[in-house]
Amino acid sequence: MTPKCMINVCFLMICVGVSRMAGAQGQSWEAPADRLGQLEERDATTLYDENRVPDYVLPPLLVNADGSPVRDARQWVMRRRPEILSIFERFMFGRSPIGGTPTSSFSVREAAGSALDGLAKREQVRFEFARGTERAGMDLLLYLPREAKGPTPVFLILNFGGNHTISVDPSVERPKWPEGSDPGLVRSLKSERGDRAGRFPLAAILGRGYGLATVYYEEMGPDRGDAVSQGVRGLFNGRQGRDGWSSIGAWAWGLSRAMDYLVANPEVDSRRVTVMGHSRLGKTALWAGARDQRFAMVVSNCSGCGGAALSRRHYGETVKRINTRFPHWFCEKFKSFNDDEGALTLDQHMLIALMAPRPVYVVSADEDLWADPRGEFLSCLAADPVYDLLGVPGLEAETMPGLDRPLLKGRIGYHVRSGGHDLTEYDWRRVMDFADRHLEINRE
Ligand code: GCU
Repeated sequence: MTPKCMINVCFLMICVGVSRMAGAQGQSWEAPADRLGQLEERDATTLYDENRVPDYVLPPLLVNADGSPVRDARQWVMRRRPEILSIFERFMFGRSPIGGTPTSSFSVREAAGSALDGLAKREQVRFEFARGTERAGMDLLLYLPREAKGPTPVFLILNFGGNHTISVDPSVERPKWPEGSDPGLVRSLKSERGDRAGRFPLAAILGRGYGLATVYYEEMGPDRGDAVSQGVRGLFNGRQGRDGWSSIGAWAWGLSRAMDYLVANPEVDSRRVTVMGHSRLGKTALWAGARDQRFAMVVSNCSGCGGAALSRRHYGETVKRINTRFPHWFCEKFKSFNDDEGALTLDQHMLIALMAPRPVYVVSADEDLWADPRGEFLSCLAADPVYDLLGVPGLEAETMPGLDRPLLKGRIGYHVRSGGHDLTEYDWRRVMDFADRHLEINRE
């Protein structure tokens, strides 16, 4: 172990210790005992006891692959950052298309001057992706505040059930699937208009001067292991190796295509687009934000294992569990680490660090122990030295804050919210507080 590495480990061990002490004084979050008890009873094979978290050593962020230290911002940008991005690509999310990118085009299918009872303007945009004779596509729904005085900052977020589920707006189109598609295999065929409206508090978002753009994730590639030849990955069927792109890779690729459109829309403030996602789509938002630096800010909501949470902690969901249940989310090579996360030259603090110096916000939930709230916080903490190196404030605290006590000051924001695995209006409001501050939204 290099001396730097030792320092990092000791630092983290001290932080964990201090955080427990602070918790005893009621200031810092501790996993709720009743929830812990329930989970331990339900599933004894999963580690939920903080005292049993193994010792681990995180791969150093500021040491190059050849062992030399990263001395300044330039070396980070020119050398270490590309190195880390490439490690995530090769071992976790897979490489996006090698040997030719599909062409991507979009057309505005509908532009309505008024929607949502006069609160918004609405656009629906169709994307076509082509490679040779193969075709794929996706639909984007955009709401902008109707009374916007200039280009609007926008949140771009994938949705789980179809664009028609995010509000009861009757004009939003359902995704189109080939005649006879099986509702058992395609979520959006079963979902109803407005089903997921609770996760998209549009009045609050638009009322604060933000726009919202969303795409149904499965249009880019069904969320199943047997669907590699469908959606955008289908354009490259037969050309995938052990590091060929994963489902998350395909969904993140789609987010960048959506960004192409947002950049081209003069009503959008394209320098203030935030990519955001919940759960598996939070993992996707992180990967999209790491790859595409046009995203000014990145938000991970309850992303857990493979997202913001440190894998080496083994707490809650592990690499083996996620690779077994969702083998298509990551590339084949990631499975080699099922029983040995320690052999990975990455951990998730490095994914957070790839956002630097841009603002990044991580949300955990009190009862969502499967996603390891503490592991998410520690990941943010371990990413902080990169923000420091780049000369901007990172995480403002060294111990976990209390429940519902958001950290908003530095460019790494964090909160652990009361309740379970969800994306709530409380989360949105804190994320908007953070965005107001760090994207310097001027409301005059
Ligand atoms: C499962 C999975 C998580 C994932 C979540 C989701 O719980 O284990 O990793 O985040 O599904 O996306 O809903």
